[in-house]
Amino acid sequence: MFKKRYLGLSLVVVILFMVGKVATNETTTKPLVVAFNKSLYSVSDPNSLWVIVNKARPISPITFIPNNLVTPKVLLRYPGNEDSEVSTLIKSPLENLFSAAKTAKLDLALTSAYRSYDYQTSVYNGFISTLGKTETDKVSARPGYSEHQTGLAVDVEPVSHKCELDACFGTTPEGVWLAANVYKYGFIIRYTSNKTAVTGYSYEPWHIRYVGVLLSNEMHKEGVQTLEEFFNVPGGSNYN
Ligand code: DAL
Ligand code: ZN
Repeated sequence: MFKKRYLGLSLVVVILFMVGKVATNETTTKPLVVAFNKSLYSVSDPNSLWVIVNKARPISPITFIPNNLVTPKVLLRYPGNEDSEVSTLIKSPLENLFSAAKTAKLDLALTSAYRSYDYQTSVYNGFISTLGKTETDKVSARPGYSEHQTGLAVDVEPVSHKCELDACFGTTPEGVWLAANVYKYGFIIRYTSNKTAVTGYSYEPWHIRYVGVLLSNEMHKEGVQTLEEFFNVPGGSNYN
């Protein structure tokens, strides 16, 4: 009697084990991994979220003007300045970023946004007169080569103006917060301290570039800092 019962139980255990095995095999089938589509948007079209502008890749056409410029509802460092507008693509993301910073008790101001070819000419020449050409080329783009001209890049600073447009901004609470959080809102820090040879520019912790959350999250996930490396396109310090 006992033996019979024991055999019956064993049978149940074996059946359960087998069923479990089948179920396990079914559920451990590898999920379909969809590779990130790097060709989803153009990296050359100046209207594209993913356009890459650097010393090797001027904006084309060189006097490109975005057709959808708007003034974002954020605190402006220089209200009325002509470099206060952004592409409509980044208006909400930028406002959301500023709101999130405020929630973290950090108040940001927008220092410089879209710059026309002519405006960038005056910015660049201003640097030339004080720094000379070699130093200027490390910190300011020549006209037609600035991603500010796309309307997708902006400079920000703390309302206190502490470390305004200075490398030390990266150590302020605002700079630290931006470095850790911009990707959540579709931005990247475009000129990081360890990638100057790739980007062709000195460290600019204040210069953020909108690329959309799809790309910013992917770059964050993969630990890739620059657009040049992610898309394998030329960059560097030399103008072509
Ligand atoms: N400061 C950045 C590189 C620009 O001029 O666009
Ligand atoms: Zn900038």
